[in-house]
Amino acid sequence: MKLPAFSLRLKLTLGYALIFILASVLGAVLIYLVASTQLTRSLDATLEETAAVALSNIEREDGQARFAADLNVRNELALELLNGQGQVTARAGEQEDLKPGLPQPGFQTVQDWRLYTVPLAGGGWLRVMRPTELLSGLLETLARILVGAALLMIVLSCLGGYLLADRALKPIDQVALAAASIARRGSYRERVPVAPGGDELTRLSTTVNAMLDRLEGTIEHEKSFARMAAHELRTPLTTLAGRVELLLDRPRDAATYRAGLVQLQERIAALRSLSEGLLSLARTDAPPTLEPVELAGTVLAVAEDLRPEFRMAGKTLHLDVEESWVRAEPEGVRRATVNLLQNALKYGGPQVTLRVRTGELSVADDGSGPTQVDWPRLLHPLERGTGVQGISGSGLGLAVVAALARRWEAELRPAWSVQRFTVTLRFPVATG
Ligand SMILES: Nc1ncnc2c1ncn2[C@@H]1O[C@H](COP(=O)(O)OP(=O)(O)OP(=O)(O)O)[C@@H](O)[C@H]1O
Ligand SMILES: [Mg+2]
Repeated sequence: MKLPAFSLRLKLTLGYALIFILASVLGAVLIYLVASTQLTRSLDATLEETAAVALSNIEREDGQARFAADLNVRNELALELLNGQGQVTARAGEQEDLKPGLPQPGFQTVQDWRLYTVPLAGGGWLRVMRPTELLSGLLETLARILVGAALLMIVLSCLGGYLLADRALKPIDQVALAAASIARRGSYRERVPVAPGGDELTRLSTTVNAMLDRLEGTIEHEKSFARMAAHELRTPLTTLAGRVELLLDRPRDAATYRAGLVQLQERIAALRSLSEGLLSLARTDAPPTLEPVELAGTVLAVAEDLRPEFRMAGKTLHLDVEESWVRAEPEGVRRATVNLLQNALKYGGPQVTLRVRTGELSVADDGSGPTQVDWPRLLHPLERGTGVQGISGSGLGLAVVAALARRWEAELRPAWSVQRFTVTLRFPVATG
């Protein structure tokens, strides 16, 4: 069976009320029991005192016990003397015939009377009796007061509980409303109100806001990336369209068409490398899944792929590798190696060295490298060094390497020495 969905307010109120009802009932019962015991005890004490006085006022005549004539019996009290068989032989004070059966020493309650019976020294019994009417009246009044007070407390506790729950839950409502409005309108720049007081609710609202901050950062980053990509692609595409238009505006000979197509081919290759670079950079945004990668084997395969390009440029690629395992992404390691080797090929001197040592991958060329001042800027997308206008490139290679290094928590370090520029990727030391 499915229970009806109560609101949290109602559940909390019912919870408070239940605890309070139990506490009130238990408290009332305890008070009643204590009061009843105390009252009975004080009644018994009166009976004992009266018995003591009466005992010293009993005379015997022919073995028959009777009360002394000057025995003064207080109101409401009844005294009896009984013989060995339990028959009443004398009475004093109130006259009451209760017939409580054979006498037995100690206290007894018969009908609305409290009885106290003591054996007499010369045989027979003394019985002192007092009505319990006053006591039961008191207890009844007390019970009424207790029930009334308990009912009042329960009503007040339900009301108070509801008000408390309502106050405590209001900030949650506000957070939920704000979150719903953000979800409905997709306005990720809005924030939920921060609950004051530094308690769990403050933590909830600040955590939600921190999450929204993070989301806003990611969305803005993606947006600016999309804007940048669109902008970067638009210029070469416009040039491309212009060239095609120029080529088609009137009939030309085969040689001119051929020259035009070769130019187009170059532009298309540049465009493709730009879009590939943008794609690699976009991929660095996804959460990384690191795995053990053997650096030497990975970079050797890349070097083999690039060897023809080096040969065509008349440059030599030296390999100096040792086996080394790191935690990274195989495709990323390949991408980073390609980008660094292509930079050395484009901007360096004739000798290029690819080196792998424990947890370290480096590419060195015998050029002077970019200027040290330029280096931090060159790690950003679409930034190129000075004096490279004649060389094709989109300024994305180093940005991709830097983003990959961040993913692997690796360090990307440049080093300049006389006619030698080295870029090193140092991977974190594997633990465990
Ligand atoms: N080994 C190097 N020697 C000299 N300058 C370099 C070297 N590597 C990079 N640079 C400078 O850093 C700039 C940025 O390099 P990056 O690889 O990011 O872009 P790119 O090579 O211009 O274009 P892409 O790699 O996207 O085709 C280069 O334009 C160049 O000026
Ligand atoms: Mg490059």
